[in-house]
Amino acid sequence: MNKSGIGKTIYSEEQIQHRIAEIAAEINHDYNGEKLIVIGVLKGSLYFVADLTRHLTMPVNIDFISIGSTPEELNITGAIRFTRSVGLNLTGQHVLLVEDIIGTGLTLGFICQHLETFEPASLKICTLLDNPAGRILTLPIDYSCFTIPDLFVVGYGLDYNEEYRNLRYIAEYRE
Ligand code: IMP
Ligand code: MG
Repeated sequence: MNKSGIGKTIYSEEQIQHRIAEIAAEINHDYNGEKLIVIGVLKGSLYFVADLTRHLTMPVNIDFISIGSTPEELNITGAIRFTRSVGLNLTGQHVLLVEDIIGTGLTLGFICQHLETFEPASLKICTLLDNPAGRILTLPIDYSCFTIPDLFVVGYGLDYNEEYRNLRYIAEYRE
């Protein structure tokens, strides 16, 4: 596949890395050395989790969860399920959920509801990108690297049909 759908760069590699270091400094300050469990949402958060956690100075455990849409034949629009749940014990732990992008907020709401059942000491949300234009479910976002206009973007973990995740920058994608 060629890159004809890739539009202009929204955030360069340098901008992304600079902002992640800033957000990590905020997180280090807020948790003040307390142990943190970072949970990334696959696959989009893979590079973000990798880069963010390497700036964290408290004891850190890392886990990933994965979600998939309900098969279309079931005809439940927008229904989601876990294809991989958490392996670490979250009870009484400080948990930071790390997302690539928050759009409607429905995915996030579903995940948070699930994580709350483990009764963590705290649960905060960290996202690389926030696209507030399409928000349906409003949840407090504790850490957000960038607020983006209502565009479809790819790169730095984000895909279009599983392509372009490995771009080092974030670009607009036009069909
Ligand atoms: P929502 O917040 O439930 O609407 O969905 C968020 C999920 O949709 C993200 O975790 C991404 O996987 C995907 N997504 C939303 N917007 C984009 C985009 O601009 N590029 C790539 N994936 C996106
Ligand atoms: Mg995602």
